[in-house]
Amino acid sequence: MLTLIVGGFFGDEGKGKISAYVSLMKQYNYAARTGAINAGHTVVFHGKKFKLRTIPAAFVNEKTKLLIPPGALIRLDVFFNEVKELGVENRVCLDYNTGIIEEIHVNREKQDSILASIGSTFQGVGAAMSDRVLRRLKLARDFSELARYLCDVPLLINNALDLGEKVLIEGTQGTFLSLYHGTYPYVTSRDTTASALLSEVGIGPKRVDEVIVVFKAYVTRVGEGPLEGELSRDEAVKRGWVEMGTVTGRPRRVAPFNFELAKRSIMLNSATQVAITKLDALFPEAKGVKTWSNLPSHVKKWIEDVESYIKTPVTLIGTGEEVDEIIDRTLDLGVEL
Ligand code: GTP
Ligand code: IMP
Ligand code: MG
Repeated sequence: MLTLIVGGFFGDEGKGKISAYVSLMKQYNYAARTGAINAGHTVVFHGKKFKLRTIPAAFVNEKTKLLIPPGALIRLDVFFNEVKELGVENRVCLDYNTGIIEEIHVNREKQDSILASIGSTFQGVGAAMSDRVLRRLKLARDFSELARYLCDVPLLINNALDLGEKVLIEGTQGTFLSLYHGTYPYVTSRDTTASALLSEVGIGPKRVDEVIVVFKAYVTRVGEGPLEGELSRDEAVKRGWVEMGTVTGRPRRVAPFNFELAKRSIMLNSATQVAITKLDALFPEAKGVKTWSNLPSHVKKWIEDVESYIKTPVTLIGTGEEVDEIIDRTLDLGVEL
């Protein structure tokens, strides 16, 4: 079984929390995190907050093996710190061809006025990607300190799928930050859609079973670029929608849920199901609710309106930060996960 988790808007939709829940409750054997260290996934598990930049959020399931694929980019210090903090030495591996970001990449970005104008995170990711395209980037296999962690991620995953095991692929950022499908030039340095996750990991499209597109109950965006219906800071505060970026600490810009963007995202990713996070921020009465029947009828109606507009079932609904603060409708809706 192969499941992809993809961001539906501009990143920070809560993919980390959804991935953690799915790996734990649906017992996934492997999880791979795509993308790079500019993306931070936040997971709150048993009251403790983790901010992850290299390791899959699926780490909360101690049985899940954690993979960093060839298309991903990491920095050595960030990787070693996370491995240590999470205590996952014995179940993490990275592909021989994973890209390595170095100080020179960060320094090069800091001097780039175009990156400043798009509100880059300045983590060196775009500079490293461009070196990779020019075939001068160092890869994981070039660093002796990584030797004990190296493995063949595509082979591992394809073999696992042959054996009927469950594999989860975590996306980073969101569909409209995609280099190809986003609001160019206000985008990141990679394609962030479902197809790109497959190529980053090394899996063919025919192996995919489920594509979960994750939307937040409102839209957020960090950095520059268009944001339809953007609210003023005061209005965001009034609605309780204020958030800070995981990596940069910058305040996130906010706008109400965008039905048109959601529809396009469903198309670009061929979503089979949808997760909606932060329902509790839109409807405080939904906080901590774990069953569909306990939601007030006007809240259910909002979800049903989304479903009928995007013609895709909403199977997972986030009602709080904790991994288990979720309404799981997969059984009721007859959807596999
Ligand atoms: P990127 O890969 O950077 O796009 O990140 P992400 O999609 O994993 O999202 P991120 O963790 O950066 O931001 C989501 C924020 O919402 C985090 O602070 C989560 O803890 C929080 N969050 C996720 N789901 C819920 C939810 O259902 N309710 C509440 N209140 N918070 C949530
Ligand atoms: P860069 O990819 O770091 O150069 O940033 C380019 C744009 O993508 C900026 O607008 C960033 O704010 C945005 N961006 C990059 N990574 C993330 C993320 O993980 N979440 C949200 N926005 C991001
Ligand atoms: Mg984030």
